[in-house]
Amino acid sequence: AEGPLILAIESSCDETAAAVTDGTGRLLADVIASQVDFHARFGGVVPEIASRKHIEAICGVCDAALEEAAAALGQPAPLPWNRLDAVAVTYAPGLVGALVVGVAFAKGAAWALDIPFIVANHLEGHLYANKIGAPDFAPPAVVSLVSGGNTLLVHMADWGRYQVLGSTIDDAVGEAFDKVAKALGLGYPGGPAISRFAAQGNPAAIDFPRAMMRSGNLDFSLSGLKTAVVNYVNQQRQTGQAVPVADVCASFQQAVVDVQIAKARTALQQTGAPTFCLGGGVAANPVLREAYQQLCAEMGVQLVLPPLSSCGDNAGMIALVALDRYRAGKFAPLDADAAAGANL
Ligand code: KG4
Repeated sequence: AEGPLILAIESSCDETAAAVTDGTGRLLADVIASQVDFHARFGGVVPEIASRKHIEAICGVCDAALEEAAAALGQPAPLPWNRLDAVAVTYAPGLVGALVVGVAFAKGAAWALDIPFIVANHLEGHLYANKIGAPDFAPPAVVSLVSGGNTLLVHMADWGRYQVLGSTIDDAVGEAFDKVAKALGLGYPGGPAISRFAAQGNPAAIDFPRAMMRSGNLDFSLSGLKTAVVNYVNQQRQTGQAVPVADVCASFQQAVVDVQIAKARTALQQTGAPTFCLGGGVAANPVLREAYQQLCAEMGVQLVLPPLSSCGDNAGMIALVALDRYRAGKFAPLDADAAAGANL
């Protein structure tokens, strides 16, 4: 492999992940240990549990990444730690107690190996995730980041030059999926369950609100839609009527998609960007992906969709950020800290 070899670690929420990239941006390893089963019984991510599970998982996840990397290189496994040229980690934004586990581990490894330490922003990672399935992906582009914690429209003028065009003023899109799923008793995480039920339902059955369509800006609001769905479900129950779960899911999902598409269209018109791409867990939603395909075909815009496996949190995307940092010589001091909040 062409050097450098970089180990990247991601622990900002409820996945413990490690990846290894070579100097060409080829991911030699991309390992994710999800904690979702431990949080499901509580209906959402419990920060204290996330921290503890990261501590339990992080050594094994890194060992697994070094095994995979050796296999990808056709060398005896595992890849020795001293073959690494840098260690990178997500430092923000996220749950600070979760981030701290990855940051402390990565610092310890970089210090012990006496190699550079690199920190990456999680949101920038989601932008880089588009390179995983499309290595030639390059800005300028408009990116929609839609996850459990974020809802952003970003203009990427270039790598490292990002302008947030709009964001949610209340709930994130994934959060709305999770809360609606909870009201319907569909379990956590809600997104996949809602999209499965929605496939059997009628998206025009119930007219849920599409917020901020005429707000004149690129911000989003999801809490009114969530409340409208919860009120509808409660009303059905209180009047002794069955809840048409598939129709509720399809109608809710369509309301989300309509707003996402309308704002994306405006963002593309305003920026004239030739490329549109998606990131975050909600980017796995099949109806949303299909709607973007239509929008971009109609507008003559190139659409880049991250592979389903790279939509949610992963360390491969952090490794690709880290490779650019490495090339630019942008290393972090060993007293760099985790931070809960950070913008792009
Ligand atoms: O990026 P991600 O893994 O991490 C967080 O930000 O937590 O995103 C997870 C979110 C959850 O809210 C989940 O319900 C949502 O992505 N999600 C989906 C789908 N798959 C996952 N939302 C809608 N449709 C899906 N198919």
